[in-house]
Amino acid sequence: MPDRSGRAREEKDVRAISTSTSTVSVGIHDISTATGHYALPLETLAAQQGIDPQKFLVGIGQEAMSLPAEDEDPVTLAASAAAPILARHGAENIRTVLFATETGVDQSTAAGVYVHSLLGLPHTARTVELKQACYSGTAALQFAANLVARDPSQQVLVIASDIARYALDSGGEPTQGAGAVAMLVAADPAVLELDPFSGVYTRDIPDFWRPNYLSTALVDGKLSIRAYIDALTGAWRDYREHGGRAFEDLATICYHQPFTKMAVKAHVALAEVAGQPVEKDVAAAQLADTLHYNRLIGNSYTASMYYGLASLLDHREDLAGQAVGLASYGSGSVSEFFSGTVRDGYRSHGRAAETRAGIEAREVIDYARYRELHEREVPVDGGEHELPRVTRAPFRLAGYSGHRRLYERNA
Ligand code: HMG
Repeated sequence: MPDRSGRAREEKDVRAISTSTSTVSVGIHDISTATGHYALPLETLAAQQGIDPQKFLVGIGQEAMSLPAEDEDPVTLAASAAAPILARHGAENIRTVLFATETGVDQSTAAGVYVHSLLGLPHTARTVELKQACYSGTAALQFAANLVARDPSQQVLVIASDIARYALDSGGEPTQGAGAVAMLVAADPAVLELDPFSGVYTRDIPDFWRPNYLSTALVDGKLSIRAYIDALTGAWRDYREHGGRAFEDLATICYHQPFTKMAVKAHVALAEVAGQPVEKDVAAAQLADTLHYNRLIGNSYTASMYYGLASLLDHREDLAGQAVGLASYGSGSVSEFFSGTVRDGYRSHGRAAETRAGIEAREVIDYARYRELHEREVPVDGGEHELPRVTRAPFRLAGYSGHRRLYERNA
């Protein structure tokens, strides 16, 4: 127990910490993406299902979905997204790796540990996995920001990586996708300085879930759309009550995008709640720069909103000094609304060429091949299984042995 003078010293220390953290600017120093090897155009799916392709292209706002190669998984996507960040900044200041996913590959070991190993990160970094549907990338980012605020000499590698998979011929099928976004969180960030306030919302609601024994998600599509909007408007109200910026002070908002039309629906609803109503087409125009990548890769769950942020940064040249909103939603459900200020010179830190190249390099497949890939399941017999060499990404899943996944650098 501290004596009186000890307590006084502690109080002084606490004040010193809070004074120092309030002046540290913390946020995203670098952001990098990776997506799956294959692409299925939604026109192909529409033709197979005998429905008007406009339902997908216009109705849900999706053109294609990314699919992983046989030798890709959330770990290889994550490592491929993070590698360029390490090449640019080195790893010596990284003390924490936060891996956000709902496509976990193990019930016990954090998938981030495999990523840590593939990337050759220092042993003096902690690694953990976070889960709450599509929301956990945002939890990781906020936790990372707090770690850096506590000790600005440290950096945190946050990676959101997922493969969105629904049953064949189900309502969710056209909204599948795959992708990873890695972010380096640091003091004095080059890309986006995070505001210290945010709004949060949790409600137990069965809109979308995936029991441990299923490899495809279950969803009540219509309920999920309502749940998304309710949670997001709840988080927005909380954001405003905690010092959040006014709606009209945000240059734009990056929404979680299970399909791009969902972002437009959410924006219309949020604008209404914020007292600044907009028509659908105006909302679509206001968000257009945030939608380019997601329209082509589909839902990447935890990575989806951050693909939206990457799209915005890569397509808007006039954002320096402006505030942007970030609207995160994960079914089940948790939502967070937060914001940040885009830093001067952000364009020179961008990775538009790499992200576009990753999307354009995908191998377009036909329906039969897609179906064959979809029907593949992870072997559960504990035997030796070598996987075909398909992906051109820097890392691959070589196979399985004794219930273990074997990863390697791609030759
Ligand atoms: P559905 O029943 O296939 O489609 O479900 P629909 O009949 O509702 O039509 C969709 C839209 O297309 C409608 O537009 C139609 O009018 C339009 P809206 O009225 O909504 O604006 N349409 C057409 N437009 C042009 N030409 C045509 C045409 N025909 C119809 N010919 C649904 C769609 C999204 C529900 C389904 O795909 C689904 O269940 N998806 C999965 C769930 C989902 O993405 N939910 C989103 C919110 S939950 C969330 O974001 C969390 C999540 O990411 C998971 C996580 O957190 O981990 C999913």
